[in-house]
Amino acid sequence: MNVRKTNNYKGNILVVDDTPQNLRLLVSILQKQGYEVRPVPNGKLALSGARGFLPDLILLDIMMPEMDGYEVCSQLKADARTKNIPIIFISAIDELVDKVKAFEVGGVDYITKPFQVEEVLARVETHLALQRLQKSLQNKNDELTKANQYLQKSNQDLVDTLQQLQSTQEELIQSKKMAALGHLLAGIAHEINNPVSFIYGNIHIARGYFKDLLRLVELYEQIYPHPTLEIQQLADEMDLDFLVKDWQKLMNSMQVGAERICEIVHSLQSFSRRDEAGIRAMDIHAEIDNTLLLLQHRLRAEGTRLEIQVIKDYGQLPLVTCYASQLNQVFMNLLSNAIDALDNKTSPRIITISTSLSQPSKITSDKETEPISNSQFVVIRVADNGLGMDEAVKNQIFDPFFTTKGVGNGTGLGLSISYQIVVEKHLGQISCISTPGQGTEFIVEIPVHLVANLVKQ
Ligand SMILES: Nc1ncnc2c1ncn2[C@@H]1O[C@H](COP(=O)(O)OP(=O)(O)OP(=O)(O)O)[C@@H](O)[C@H]1O
Ligand SMILES: [Mg+2]
Repeated sequence: MNVRKTNNYKGNILVVDDTPQNLRLLVSILQKQGYEVRPVPNGKLALSGARGFLPDLILLDIMMPEMDGYEVCSQLKADARTKNIPIIFISAIDELVDKVKAFEVGGVDYITKPFQVEEVLARVETHLALQRLQKSLQNKNDELTKANQYLQKSNQDLVDTLQQLQSTQEELIQSKKMAALGHLLAGIAHEINNPVSFIYGNIHIARGYFKDLLRLVELYEQIYPHPTLEIQQLADEMDLDFLVKDWQKLMNSMQVGAERICEIVHSLQSFSRRDEAGIRAMDIHAEIDNTLLLLQHRLRAEGTRLEIQVIKDYGQLPLVTCYASQLNQVFMNLLSNAIDALDNKTSPRIITISTSLSQPSKITSDKETEPISNSQFVVIRVADNGLGMDEAVKNQIFDPFFTTKGVGNGTGLGLSISYQIVVEKHLGQISCISTPGQGTEFIVEIPVHLVANLVKQ
């Protein structure tokens, strides 16, 4: 604060004494030692002098008319700007003064007149040195506090960056995984689509041709009711009546099979529309059915494994405006998890999917400032009667990379990505109820109309 400081600066001292001889004596002693000295003859001037320019130390006479040294000291100590200036009291040995009071009002030391030069200098120097030490300690302390704050901030920045990195990495992995899967599925769908179209498209033509041939045979039979032995033998050999009946069945099952392949191809194509990242109107039930179709191989009975029964309890739902391909990903994750949870179960293996429409129960807390007014929610529940989870597992399921499945079986990303999609992208909710040994239910709530500008891209 002191602007006059130079290299050989020793200190600025305010000397307050109403006796001119004393004042002159003190000034000359101190000036000889190289101090800057400001003499003032009374309390009032002492106060204004100290406040106008902060001294490093004050020598203060106690007995003065109008305002005594105690009063001056009290006022200086009461002022935040001047309270840290060390004050040394001076008073004559024969004056009836209270030394204890001098310390009580905030003095740091006490000198009795007549004084010895050496004593004055020693006390002044000691207190200046103490003052300097205190200041430098304070500065160091301030610096440390600042450094600490800076460190804390850097630390927080690092934590934030790390979190951001992790979540970007997850998104990258997941979108890479989904993109690769999407490409593969799209490729397979495309490859199957053409040949299956040949089969499907030609079945009714084949039926037509067969009918024509049959008509021809029947006409022959009418016109030539007595065929030659050779023809009769061939007809018996091929069991013409059976052939005609079986041909119909054969065609029917080929048609059902081909239709089924077409459906699967259709599901694959709809599932693989990953790059179509935009918002569109989605028929939730149709998309869930598509996802189930893709998981068919894991649902049906195989070897000793029992079939998984899928119970659908679909309510009346409107089309939902959403990031459709992302919601498909959520259905896929929830259904795959439910199937995994039923893996080692013997008795009835059941997945129940129910949907309904509701008013929002609660709105996502961090978006409270921008509520989605009057919005309806679709509620999708996926329940399994599988192995369930205990509290410890349940508390971590939405954490990225948390998995209880062995290496190579789970990445632990399914639910964390689903959480992001539902909560962050769609401002919805995802929660879970589970009882160990009994099963798990996931509840997803999605607003019917996604307000695009509220959505974090
Ligand atoms: N329906 C459920 N029943 C029991 N536990 C479940 C169920 N769904 C999820 N979990 C538990 O939550 C964990 C995390 O699930 P998440 O889908 O995030 O990862 P994952 O299935 O292990 O791996 P992946 O990335 O392949 O999906 C699972 O490992 C499992 O312990
Ligand atoms: Mg999973």
